[in-house]
Amino acid sequence: HFAANEEPPKSYREFISTLPRTKGWNAEDDLYHYQGFWFHPTFLDGIMSAQDYFKAQPSDILICSTPRSGTTWLKALAFAIVTRNSFDDSTSPLLSKVPHDCVPFVEMDLSHGSSARDPEMPLLATHIPFSSLPKSVLESGCRIVYICRNSKDAFVSMFHFARRLEIQRNLEPLSLEEVFELFCEGKCHYGPQWDHVLGYWRASLERPEKILFLKYEEVKEDTGVYVKKLAEFIGCPFSPEEEETGAVEKIVKMCSFENLSNLEVNKTGKHREDTPVSIQNKVFFWKGKIGEWENHLTPEMAARLDRITEQKLGNSGLNL
Ligand code: A3P
Repeated sequence: HFAANEEPPKSYREFISTLPRTKGWNAEDDLYHYQGFWFHPTFLDGIMSAQDYFKAQPSDILICSTPRSGTTWLKALAFAIVTRNSFDDSTSPLLSKVPHDCVPFVEMDLSHGSSARDPEMPLLATHIPFSSLPKSVLESGCRIVYICRNSKDAFVSMFHFARRLEIQRNLEPLSLEEVFELFCEGKCHYGPQWDHVLGYWRASLERPEKILFLKYEEVKEDTGVYVKKLAEFIGCPFSPEEEETGAVEKIVKMCSFENLSNLEVNKTGKHREDTPVSIQNKVFFWKGKIGEWENHLTPEMAARLDRITEQKLGNSGLNL
């Protein structure tokens, strides 16, 4: 993956082992504290490397999010928008690949530099918190689309994601109560969730022309409106003719939870097969609903998350 003129990658593992550490969401993986957030060591290794080597281009569109907030969906929508003149809703790569295989992930795929990039594809994705983004992201002036989600739904989604990974890896599962405590303390993959969201929220207020801030719930309620917004922001708005011929609706339908989760590739395929972070594609799709937390959290748990959200977001002008 390395061009001759790129420096060879360093290993950050030794440094990571010196960082504050906490129990993670399964019996094997601890989380490490770096620049205000908690990370799994494999991902942190990639983040540190990306901070050293990743070079954003001014034309890049970076899809950012906290895990379980609609990343898979946003990748699909953005990919479908950007490639709509090359493919249609019967030939799109989204029908044969999970969206994560259509958009490179900075801290995994591009952490050692950009030589592995497809020069035709402006879309990239990351979960890196705003304050830890590689310097070139802000220096390049590239655009960012951020998606966040209600904390109660994000937590429940994260718990079920972790559960399914534990089953896949034959690990002893942690209880909902244990994991809830960790989440409330901000101890989750790229957590605290609230700080992650706030970083991008404030940045989006400062630079609205560069950062589009989306909420899962809003996109879900009126997907067509946000597909148009996204296309405009990305710099490829729909023409009146495209709108008349239903191009927006086709993308909404192709990227819908029902459609993507029922594709053969997303029922039986694997993402990053033969790597230590291999995941069955079906794990990325669970319920795809707003308010699923009501079926999983006690009223006390819900109230506690609401209180934390209120405290953390307070007068920021943001409601989660
Ligand atoms: P649930 O676990 O609540 O079902 P991420 O992609 O950031 O990991 O977010 C995952 C959440 O988005 C999961 O929520 C998943 O089911 C949901 N999701 C995946 N694809 C979706 C789609 N096309 N439309 C709406 N939600 C989707």
